[in-house]
Amino acid sequence: MPKKITVLGSINMDLVTKTDTIPKVGETVKGTSFFINPGGKGANQAIAAAKLGADISLIGCVGDDEFGNQLLSHLAAEGVSTDYIKKVSNVSTGIASITLSASDNSIIIVSGANDYITPKLVEEYENIIAQSDILLLQLEVPLLAVEKAVELAKKHEVLVILNPAPIQPLSENLLKSVDFLIPNEHEQKELFKYGNSSMIAKKCITTRGSKGVSFYQNDKEVHIPSLKVDVLDTTGAGDSFNGAFAVALSEGKDTKEACHFANIVGALTVTNLGAQTGMPTRKVIQTFCKERGIPFV
Ligand code: RIB
Repeated sequence: MPKKITVLGSINMDLVTKTDTIPKVGETVKGTSFFINPGGKGANQAIAAAKLGADISLIGCVGDDEFGNQLLSHLAAEGVSTDYIKKVSNVSTGIASITLSASDNSIIIVSGANDYITPKLVEEYENIIAQSDILLLQLEVPLLAVEKAVELAKKHEVLVILNPAPIQPLSENLLKSVDFLIPNEHEQKELFKYGNSSMIAKKCITTRGSKGVSFYQNDKEVHIPSLKVDVLDTTGAGDSFNGAFAVALSEGKDTKEACHFANIVGALTVTNLGAQTGMPTRKVIQTFCKERGIPFV
């Protein structure tokens, strides 16, 4: 039986504008295209895991609106259990306004219903956390709720993975409680300000974009290089890495094997437009590995 993974996190609709030119203050420019697709770090991580066949539940909130309905149907269709997603009345579903340009992407988030994930709501879902093997979290929902979920996970001896994005000050107690931290380079530097850096470094799997992934094992840095692919959209790459890492751990892989697997999943994700569209199934990964002569883990 597959192990159970629970994600607690944000659910957004991504409103994406592609442009050749980023407007300066007071300037209007013409974009080249616009599309709407599902996103949010929590939902992205849950979908990444679901596409890999995981038994996955998502704890979160959507608004009582059209985006909320669409996102709930989409999550269910992709195989994510939506039993622990609350619909909040008179609040909009979270959105991310994303600008994609040749150089990079920039994102404005309106949290909406995501802000309604309270410690009290998390307590209501203690059972589902207790029944999980892994709890995966990010920081796009209120920190107090994240702290409560980690506390409950520890109470029930559930392994905790925290993707500290977007980065914000965290208590040393929270950092001590999690088993793995998966920051990007910028987030990792910030993390060191919030607690004992040697303790933090030992828990970090640091994603470095085109420079690959690194982590410490027996006090030595292990580095996994990135895979060369045609990059169309980097949105959601970190999320798919996190989802895949959790799935690999749940299947008994060690940290290095899990990083190798998640690195492939992250690479495939950026070859499509949209956070979730490019997230691969096992079949896609298998074909990619065969073509590249990469061992399939
Ligand atoms: O990590 C990418 C995600 O960040 C996007 O899908 C967007 O919704 C924002 O939450």
